[in-house]
Amino acid sequence: MLQQQTIDIIKSTVPVLEVHGQEITKTFYKNMFEAHPELLNIFNHTNQRRGRQANALANTVYAAAVHIDNLEAIVPAVMLIAHKHRSLGILPEHYPIVGEHLLGAIKEVLGDAATPEIIDAWAQAYGVIADIFISVEEDLYQQTEAAGGWRMFKPFKIARKEQESDIVTSFYLSPVDGEKLPEVAPGQYISIRLSIPGEEYLMNRQYTVTDVTENNEYRISVKREDDNTPNGRVSTYLHSDAEIGTEIEVSAPAGLFTLQEGSNDVLFIAGGVGVTPLYRMLQAAGGRNTSFIQCARNERVAAFTEQIQANANNYKAIYSDTDGYVTKEQIESMLTTGSDVYICGPAPFMQAIIGQLKDLGVADDRIHYEFFGPALAM
Ligand SMILES: Cc1cc2nc3c(=O)[nH]c(=O)nc-3n(C[C@H](O)[C@H](O)[C@H](O)COP(=O)(O)OP(=O)(O)OC[C@H]3O[C@@H](n4cnc5c(N)ncnc54)[C@H](O)[C@@H]3O)c2cc1C
Ligand code: HEM
Repeated sequence: MLQQQTIDIIKSTVPVLEVHGQEITKTFYKNMFEAHPELLNIFNHTNQRRGRQANALANTVYAAAVHIDNLEAIVPAVMLIAHKHRSLGILPEHYPIVGEHLLGAIKEVLGDAATPEIIDAWAQAYGVIADIFISVEEDLYQQTEAAGGWRMFKPFKIARKEQESDIVTSFYLSPVDGEKLPEVAPGQYISIRLSIPGEEYLMNRQYTVTDVTENNEYRISVKREDDNTPNGRVSTYLHSDAEIGTEIEVSAPAGLFTLQEGSNDVLFIAGGVGVTPLYRMLQAAGGRNTSFIQCARNERVAAFTEQIQANANNYKAIYSDTDGYVTKEQIESMLTTGSDVYICGPAPFMQAIIGQLKDLGVADDRIHYEFFGPALAM
């Protein structure tokens, strides 16, 4: 454990680092990728470019530092990140690389203000935090294998495709080795890794498993992200270029955004393609009173509407093109006392809904959500 003096130094320097947080993490990534370009095969380049990953890592290191004398407080966040790391094949040998470049960036940005004592304190703190991640992640690798999964990535083939809406297509992925696929808790995701012609590095993305079929396939349902510039790299490739038989590497299911057991009512609120984990959870919520609010731009882009209507006790579609955005009154009309609420959609959508739920008196521990990007960026 860390000595009190080290903890004091860490705590007293957190505010300074926070002020320079963006610059430090930007410098960190730039230097690290220059020294280790092979890591570009693991990181999501878009999250990098948009600064989302920088925020996520910075937030976590500072959060960990603030709680350095009570690391219990960050366990939930560690678990969430560890699942993502495990699904991307992050290994113990990666940690010293990140540590070296993070400390190097602190030195570079703070200059003389970063005294040897300060750097030494942060090196020790990083070591403590990294050891926690490494050990939690090794446990996850072992649990994954014990549950019939596999350690890193393995090849799958696209067995078939099915259009779910104007912009969402499902891809059925079948393991090349033919081994029986492990169960997937409703709401969990897989990471896929693929080599796209013309791209120098491998691309990794996460997709919710929307079905495990009798033919031993995982189904993912992907929204084509081409209404923005530049086009979404992986989703556009999958929709336009990937064919039946195209090989894609897949890691075993991960994630903690899953339906919690219980008998109380459940309200699902989906925005856009955020419907995927909630649709799976709804199917697993048999026996419970379920309500589903599905928000989308319009009927043509909304996916799984029929299946959801057939499964939910109460269903409401809200199409922003004609109905505007979901209101507090609409949520209230679908909410019962003690409902568990599950939300997934774009970040501004979720922020609005969470605010409305709080206004309606829903307790924090009843609100469950996932964001399709670095969670802590929220
Ligand atoms: C746990 C989890 C589960 C997920 N489940 C699903 C799912 O079930 N279905 C699904 O469709 N998606 C899902 N996603 C999202 C998915 O992983 C991808 O993020 C998504 O498909 C977009 O990837 P892409 O490569 O097509 O787009 P990217 O190339 O990553 O681009 C994403 C967006 O950023 C914009 N962009 C790109 N570069 C820049 C730039 N320099 N500046 C500003 N904007 C830029 C693009 O126009 C696009 O709108 C999930 C994500 C997570 C984390
Ligand atoms: C103690 C050190 C570390 C901390 C605090 C940390 C923190 C984080 C956080 C907060 C996320 C976002 C999780 C999410 O919500 O999705 C993340 C994702 C990620 N981390 Fe780490 N991480 C650490 C070490 C590492 C190491 C050693 C590697 C490998 C070189 C790594 C690679 C990644 C990758 C590739 C992602 C996903 C990025 C993306 O999809 O944009 N991390 N990490």
